[in-house]
Amino acid sequence: MSRIAYVNGAYQRHTDAAVHIEDRGFQFADGVYEVCEIRHGFIVDLTRHLNRLDRSLREIRIAWPMTRTALVVVIREVLRRNRIRNGLFYIQVTRGAARRDHVFPAEGTPSTLVVTAKRTDASLIARKNAVGIRAITVPENRWDRVDVKTVGLLANVLARQAAKEEGAQEAIFVEPDGTVKEGAATNVWIVDRDGTLRTRHADHGILRGITRTTLMDVAASVGIDIEERAFSVEDMLAAREVFITAATSICFPVVAINGKVIANGHPGSVSQKIREAFFDIAEKTAI
Ligand code: PDD
Repeated sequence: MSRIAYVNGAYQRHTDAAVHIEDRGFQFADGVYEVCEIRHGFIVDLTRHLNRLDRSLREIRIAWPMTRTALVVVIREVLRRNRIRNGLFYIQVTRGAARRDHVFPAEGTPSTLVVTAKRTDASLIARKNAVGIRAITVPENRWDRVDVKTVGLLANVLARQAAKEEGAQEAIFVEPDGTVKEGAATNVWIVDRDGTLRTRHADHGILRGITRTTLMDVAASVGIDIEERAFSVEDMLAAREVFITAATSICFPVVAINGKVIANGHPGSVSQKIREAFFDIAEKTAI
């Protein structure tokens, strides 16, 4: 079965699907995106992901490429055509194709919409949950509007690659004063030495992850208090537990950072409890 992608009004074979060479996503990273999990045939947290897409589009002044209802029809169709029961879908909206010029193109230039989907490897995810992952820290070098989910991810790409080259799976951005920001594609959490579950406040300094938001509902449902308070690399290295969250992974335990083992080097119980309760609490939309 060949994979199918949606591009600007047409469902195409994934291998043939393409946008124009002067698409502003390609030329300027002038676009935004969303990644959303599909589990057991349900879209997880669709409303929150579409709400964030709406915010991202408004923040960088790109018009919705179609109505929200129509976009949900397209998403469902892409998922059905690719027979996805467990996986991810990806939406990208750019400011469209136009002769290269930094200023916005003429009023009425249609925005570009791409929707793709892929299956995920459940056994790989299970293995990472069972043994945990390793991370490194890297200096924060991104612009100060990382709360907008733009496709301008060069710093994130270089950070993840640096992690890979050091035998780790995630890179964690750190401010010059040692304050932890977030991962290259994840939010970061600790259970601190006092047993408090903490993640930094979401301002313009990090992406307000949808998994992060839903995790707060999950924690409340299982009776775990959360503090939205910044922490340092030192706090993180001394934590009882460290884990990262994203729609692609829900909640991966981090067992070593910069080669230093966290706690006893095994995944902790808080992340496990949260992961187990996550799907029950999250919003589920049937495909
Ligand atoms: N990334 N922070 C950054 C920088 C991210 O790129 C992501 C997600 C998150 C977590 O957000 P959410 O819980 O909504 O997935 C935090 C996606 C998965 C990606 O780029 O593939």
